[in-house]
Amino acid sequence: MQRLLTAADDTPRSPLVITPGCPQAHKQAGADLGFLDRHGVLTRGLREVMTHHILFLFNRLGISAADTWLLATAAVHVTFHHPFDTQTGYQPAGTTDSRVNAVNTSPTESGTSSAAVLRDQLVGTLEQRGHIRSATVERAFRTVPRERFLPGVDLETVYTRRQIVTKRDPNGAALSSASSPSLVADMLEQLAPRPGHRVLEIGAATGINAALLAELTSPGGKVVTIELDQDLADGARASLGRAGYDTVEVIRGDGALGHPAHAPYDRIVVTAGAWDISAGWWDQLADDGRIVVPLRVHESGLTRCFAFDRTAPHQLVGTTTPLVCGFVPMRGTAAHTDHHVRLDADVVLKLDATDQPDRAALSSALSHPRLERWTGIQVSDADPIGHLDLWLLVHTDRPFGRLGVGDTARTSGLVTPAYRWAGAAIYHGATIAYLAFQDVGNGHHELGAIAHGPDATTLATDLTNLLDQWDEAGRPNQPTVTAQRAGTRPAERGGISRSDTVLTISF
Ligand SMILES: C[S@@+](CC[C@H](N)C(=O)[O-])C[C@H]1O[C@@H](n2cnc3c(N)ncnc32)[C@H](O)[C@@H]1O
Repeated sequence: MQRLLTAADDTPRSPLVITPGCPQAHKQAGADLGFLDRHGVLTRGLREVMTHHILFLFNRLGISAADTWLLATAAVHVTFHHPFDTQTGYQPAGTTDSRVNAVNTSPTESGTSSAAVLRDQLVGTLEQRGHIRSATVERAFRTVPRERFLPGVDLETVYTRRQIVTKRDPNGAALSSASSPSLVADMLEQLAPRPGHRVLEIGAATGINAALLAELTSPGGKVVTIELDQDLADGARASLGRAGYDTVEVIRGDGALGHPAHAPYDRIVVTAGAWDISAGWWDQLADDGRIVVPLRVHESGLTRCFAFDRTAPHQLVGTTTPLVCGFVPMRGTAAHTDHHVRLDADVVLKLDATDQPDRAALSSALSHPRLERWTGIQVSDADPIGHLDLWLLVHTDRPFGRLGVGDTARTSGLVTPAYRWAGAAIYHGATIAYLAFQDVGNGHHELGAIAHGPDATTLATDLTNLLDQWDEAGRPNQPTVTAQRAGTRPAERGGISRSDTVLTISF
């Protein structure tokens, strides 16, 4: 195992020569996973994804469960310098002559980690990656025991950086979750609650964020959190009580209405995907208050988390660069249905129904051959291009949509958008063109357009022209956003109009 793990793939005597192509495929898969992880896209942790992948590979190679166990145990031994025991997988502490550097030293000697150790590690990672930036948020994260809010979830999972879904509907769609700690930290930094503040949270879920808010507003503050579902509200109240945060008020109700009894609020934080800034939030936010809200700015589900300061009774102005995020959608009176056209068993185009697409024509788009146009514009994995799809939405004259693509369509090469979760696209009649990446090596990708349909050339050219404009404009990634209470001013051209709010986004 040690020889295998340290083998170079380019020497004739390498044990890897028996699987030509495999080392390169693994390198590529590792680079792709790293890219997705850095962009916060993975819904499972890296370790879980890789374990799944390896088990799949072993199954295909016909390796038995017993041999898989043996190989995995040996790999753990070599990689982590863990002592080895044939019964348990570990043996009393001893030295190894492994040449493989440990990649993770998180487990304690007993092989498990205490909550406090894992919490400190999580905080360290969140700081390193720039999600925690202030001493106050750091202290709150070090104090709140996440495991008390996630009973039955194993400690390692509790302290990963990923979202943990805690309730699903009968079709398997997520209804509630503990949001990813990275996103929670980012949102708390945006919100900047201070001691003495009154804070309203929408979407209590497990109660973790309410506990962090209680830490941040103490002493003298007040936290009210609203949860739509009775079972979740009861659970959050019980966990908050157990963890010593019984001053937090958990209300069972519809968060879109707010909770006037404790208004005005210095801070409002919405932790479910909202379609509008509701009248209740406009009414209950203090004159100099701040609201942080993940808003779906387009019916395709394109969502950004904005922090707005109230600058006038009917005006909110975006204060920080919005966050790229995904959230379970709000239900209740604020629920909003998505619209999509199915292009293939595994591919949908999510779009704005008011654009009135020719659904029948559009659904045939993928039966037309694929046309690729590349721009020569290169981006690196580290480049800040998180708001490119928002820029395209704001600047295109064509109807905009986003592709949702399953694994089968992607691996078969039928549809290969830049990101699976955000395949920005434009469409017209029976033609679509979508944003694509082409790997050019060294962690760089070239931007381009892939089109299908009778007007493929025109739409691919339109999309690449937009990409050229974006590049020439200096690759803007700082949208400026304002929100005006609906009906308080004549409608502006280009405004995104909702029942209670008109949003204006520019770059
Ligand atoms: C992503 S979870 C919230 C995460 C949570 N704040 C945390 O600490 O990680 C979203 C929650 O919003 C709740 N929700 C959805 N619509 C709601 C509404 N109209 N009013 C109140 N809560 C709502 C869901 O039931 C779910 O529990």
